[in-house]
Amino acid sequence: MNNNFKEMMVYYNERAKEYDEVYIGKGPAIPYPDACRNDVSKIKKMVSSFGKGHLIDIGCGTGFWLPYYSQNCSKITLIDQSEEMILECKERVDKLRLKNRCDFVQGDFFEVEFENCLFESVVTGFFISHITSELEQVFFAKLNKILKPNAQLMIIDSAWSSKREQYRKKEGIQKRVLNNGRIFTIYKRYFNGSDIEEILERHRFKLKSSYIGDVFLVIIGNKKERR
Ligand SMILES: C[S@@+](CC[C@H](N)C(=O)[O-])C[C@H]1O[C@@H](n2cnc3c(N)ncnc32)[C@H](O)[C@@H]1O
Repeated sequence: MNNNFKEMMVYYNERAKEYDEVYIGKGPAIPYPDACRNDVSKIKKMVSSFGKGHLIDIGCGTGFWLPYYSQNCSKITLIDQSEEMILECKERVDKLRLKNRCDFVQGDFFEVEFENCLFESVVTGFFISHITSELEQVFFAKLNKILKPNAQLMIIDSAWSSKREQYRKKEGIQKRVLNNGRIFTIYKRYFNGSDIEEILERHRFKLKSSYIGDVFLVIIGNKKERR
């Protein structure tokens, strides 16, 4: 584990209690709260019709998207490396009375061992924007092993847009400041529509639908059958 990765792990643990502020345009989001809320409301609609069977939410954080996809799944595995994020997520699961359908895994997705062909759908929010293109290969190699044929994939992430480029660089080490003033540096990259479509194609997922906002984006694909 390199130092940037370690720092990101600490950062998310420390940010857990204030994390959801990002969805109302606070925190490290760019200062366009209306655009942010607009994207979140469009994404919620898409998440509401996503998911089937046993779903895995990779880097689940506080489980912000869980209330929208949970009705479509028979079982949900929520994985996050952060103890504090998992605690926030457990609270949400209790409030939603979903305990009997949810399993929690606190650990590093790259290290945790799963059975092959376990999941029929996957949601991953703001996860691949924190991994380099080299690690992206490792991520999808693992994902492709644990997903059943024709599994559904939903990636929710940060969009690269004319609004974003006023405040951020497209890729690299970036500064993040918590509400208490603590400063972290993390690796982050932003995606435009073609970047994210290429990621799907590269890792053998067929594009089903997408929404590319000014702040956030979502893309849905189906795992292609092996020829
Ligand atoms: C930006 S947050 C997104 C949370 C949630 N997916 C959402 O959309 O609101 C990214 C989350 O991924 C987790 N994470 C990052 N790398 C991870 C890894 N290798 N294994 C497990 N969790 C990881 C972090 O702890 C953090 O909670």
